Amino acid sequence: MKHLLKLMDLSREEILSVLNLADQLKYERKNGVFGEYLKGKKLGMIFQKSSTRTRVSFETGMYELGGYALFLSNRDLQIGRGEPVEDTARVLSRYLDGIMIRTFEQKEVEDLAKFGSIPVINGLTDYCHPCQVLADLMTIRERKGSFKGLKMCFIGDGNNMANSLMVGAIKTQMSFAIACPKGYEPDGELMKWAKKEGEFLMTESVEEAAKDADVILTDVWASMGQEEEKAKREAVFKGYQVNEKIMKAAKKDAMVLHCLPAHRGEEITADVFEAHADEIFDEAENRLHAQKAVLCKLLK
Ligand code: CP
Ligand code: NVA
Repeated sequence: MKHLLKLMDLSREEILSVLNLADQLKYERKNGVFGEYLKGKKLGMIFQKSSTRTRVSFETGMYELGGYALFLSNRDLQIGRGEPVEDTARVLSRYLDGIMIRTFEQKEVEDLAKFGSIPVINGLTDYCHPCQVLADLMTIRERKGSFKGLKMCFIGDGNNMANSLMVGAIKTQMSFAIACPKGYEPDGELMKWAKKEGEFLMTESVEEAAKDADVILTDVWASMGQEEEKAKREAVFKGYQVNEKIMKAAKKDAMVLHCLPAHRGEEITADVFEAHADEIFDEAENRLHAQKAVLCKLLK
């Protein structure tokens, strides 16, 4: 593993190896052990979009590993004024040991890796959110014991989360079902791959997707950068909601996960959210452990 640009780049074995290390780091931390595996290492964190979890978990993660994290906002960097990514990549490679970037275009993340000489981690693009899905997989395995034979169901927009969840599910041998409105499907190439590699279902029926599911996930109807489409999307996605009815279609012991932030009353009801809050906030906590594992793999 040289970078984490998208989950598709990781083999099944690499994903499991990250998850195993994440479990170990979580266990150590619970017992008050903070191994300084990245002593003196420096991570630059470029944010072109807002963040609570990604920023705080990467920053505290680096601190706990004995390293240092620099928050680099788009508003302050020259990249925000048009300095080319190929120059930014080469400059930052002279100062830092790794870069985490949250931005719009996947190409910007890929270019950073291409022109720089240090590991690059994707902290969310419009295309995917690999760090979140590693934490999701960790949470599922923690609660279910293993992945084999599980059905993952995603309700809503075929967005960055849907793309990464689809890849994560198929790579860990879960089946994947998505219910989304026409015109809001996940990435076409990824769907083709999922159909070939595993068990994949896309439908407009939320009940069909949720039927006998072991894990139900959803995400906001309008992602960052789609604020002006909010009203239109509220109309399109009405009905694509995780609620009591959906939970009845799923298995009795089905988990519910949400990457957060959540919009109660839109993609999930307040009741279902609160009934599964333990799972959802474990998932948020696991961002820290999963990312520390990624950082160790890439920066050590
Ligand atoms: N789930 C997630 O990435 O949260 P933030 O946008 O707060 O980082
Ligand atoms: N799909 C959401 C995920 C936020 C973590 C977004 O891109 O805004």
